[in-house]
Amino acid sequence: KKVVLAYSGGLDTSIILKWLQTEYGCEVVTFTADLGQGEELEPARKKAELLGISPENIYIEDIREEFTRDFVFPMFRANALYEGLYLLGTSIARPLISKRLVEIAEETGADAVAHGATGKGNDQVRFELSAYALNPEIKVIAPWREWDLTSRTRLLEFAEANQIPIAKDKRGEAPFSVDANLLHTSSEGKVLENPADEAPDYVLQRITRPEDAPDQPEFVEITFEKGDAVAIDGEAMSPATILTKLNELGGKHGIGILDLVENRFVGMKSRGVYETPGGTVLLEAHRGIEQITLDSGAGHLKDSIMPRYAELIYNGFWFSPEREMLQALIDKSQEHVSGTVRLKLYKGSARTVARWSDHSLYSEAHVTFEEDAGAYDQKDAQGFIQLNALRLKLLAARDRRLK
Ligand code: ARG
Ligand code: SIN
Repeated sequence: KKVVLAYSGGLDTSIILKWLQTEYGCEVVTFTADLGQGEELEPARKKAELLGISPENIYIEDIREEFTRDFVFPMFRANALYEGLYLLGTSIARPLISKRLVEIAEETGADAVAHGATGKGNDQVRFELSAYALNPEIKVIAPWREWDLTSRTRLLEFAEANQIPIAKDKRGEAPFSVDANLLHTSSEGKVLENPADEAPDYVLQRITRPEDAPDQPEFVEITFEKGDAVAIDGEAMSPATILTKLNELGGKHGIGILDLVENRFVGMKSRGVYETPGGTVLLEAHRGIEQITLDSGAGHLKDSIMPRYAELIYNGFWFSPEREMLQALIDKSQEHVSGTVRLKLYKGSARTVARWSDHSLYSEAHVTFEEDAGAYDQKDAQGFIQLNALRLKLLAARDRRLK
């Protein structure tokens, strides 16, 4: 029996690795991905070797470009927000990790994949729905739902008994649980568990407190082609480079902090603090370019399906026909979403201050408060209003009659 484990190199997934070897008697293949979480990957290799994984069974990959190009950017074409606020930073990373787990399982002849998500959260659902969608025969092992290591003490005892190195600061409980990638860092649990208590500032990992951000604003220009960012300040860059650069800028100016109580798919509410610096800037910029390039019918239609699209991603249905159908609609809407947006970054806010495009639908000739040289006949508006008012008048007349 062989299993591919999503392995971070941290204590919890190292315990899972050992547990799979001892309890399941499995040969373990580890997959460690650089998704832009800002951690070195080589220590994970060392640790896997130390735990008896042979070199050919250790997969370490930089998938930042694929993550940004094929997952983050398509999602941003929709301006996706879950429950009005959450930019889906963790949700959008899970399908890609599962995709690689399944592919590596097929390459190495493994029949199962394993992950370190608990039985209480969304992540287990996302990992597993994605895996089954890509390989209906795959088996999934979720140790957190199975084992009896139900307390921190027992976990540490198991680690000690199995010679798993425990970093000094891991002996006490971590103050909260963190998930990070190029798009965001999320913090949940422990000191954040009571939503009536304000989150302490030390929760912030990658965004400067707006109070401490520079007193001088900074301007940035983002250029889009068919809905995707392609250049910053006129310089063409790869998707992951763009997101990295916007993270630096947004983080420096205190942009993208969210404190949210959300509804998990499994039914409970949970409180999290999210840091999405680059994503928050990108969302504002994308809305900015859509303002001049999207037709109102097209724009309102895509906005109306956005909550459904965001919910599908949140709930783990990235690899589903309905997400792909909505994606096709969204992608079609982006055909002319090309041009440049200038933003002002200042103490926690990213504000569009200018936008221009060869594809613009904005007509100054029509909208001007000055003489418009016959572009628009104001008299046309009279009949437009009268016909639209007809049913409202009939309703009002009935109500007066019956009063
Ligand atoms: N609540 C967020 C979501 O469901 C973040 C989850 C964070 N996951 C984690 N393993 N710490 O997308
Ligand atoms: C977990 O339970 O593993 C993290 C939280 C979540 O998946 O929602």
